[in-house]
Amino acid sequence: NKIGVIFDLDGVIVDTAKYHFLAWKNLANHLGFEFTEAHNELLKGVSRVRSLEILLDIGKVELSEEKKQEFLVSKNEEYLKYITKMGPEEILPGAKELLDTLDSLGIHYVLGSASKNAPLILKQVNLFERFSGIVDGNSVSKAKPDPEVFLIGAKKLNLKPEQCIVFEDAIAGVKAANTANMISIGIGDKQTLHKADYNFNDLTEVNSSFIKELIN
Ligand code: BG6
Ligand code: MG
Repeated sequence: NKIGVIFDLDGVIVDTAKYHFLAWKNLANHLGFEFTEAHNELLKGVSRVRSLEILLDIGKVELSEEKKQEFLVSKNEEYLKYITKMGPEEILPGAKELLDTLDSLGIHYVLGSASKNAPLILKQVNLFERFSGIVDGNSVSKAKPDPEVFLIGAKKLNLKPEQCIVFEDAIAGVKAANTANMISIGIGDKQTLHKADYNFNDLTEVNSSFIKELIN
């Protein structure tokens, strides 16, 4: 019984939400309104373009397409300033250990992220070389909760969707995995991610006996 794993990046392997927050907050303040951590929750797992739309809705601000493009660029420039300072110490607890476990069991894994910055982030934390494949915001046309990103991931793994296990921290991501017919594992708040097939607070709780059970 062969399986493969697809990892979301932001919120599962690294905590980049805090950097997205700083950059979006600055943009909101520039546009004259407050942007809180609670607002930031709404942007988890959501594409960059959709994130801006949600932010503008919060501030009840309307912008021309041209202005939107301009702010998407400036937001990302600020975000890049933070992520280019990231290092391996920012890998979330349990992530490296889980990759080691998968390696020792001969289970392949790929990345399935909405972020166009995913390759850069993986390189910053020295994990890029470990993945058998990368599916990111540059390779998909439909954002999560559409299953496209994970279906491409399954192709990269040479597996059927039902043979794939997805680790996700966002509601949109769990939904995408479920729609793709994959095994969804919610990482984070169990209430928030109650649609997942399995739930864990973080990756330190995902041990090798759990993975072995899934194989059988
Ligand atoms: C997701 C994040 O992984 O990537 C979202 O959870 C983010 O918050 C999205 O908006 C797109 O990221 P980027 O790096 O392409 O702006
Ligand atoms: Mg995520």
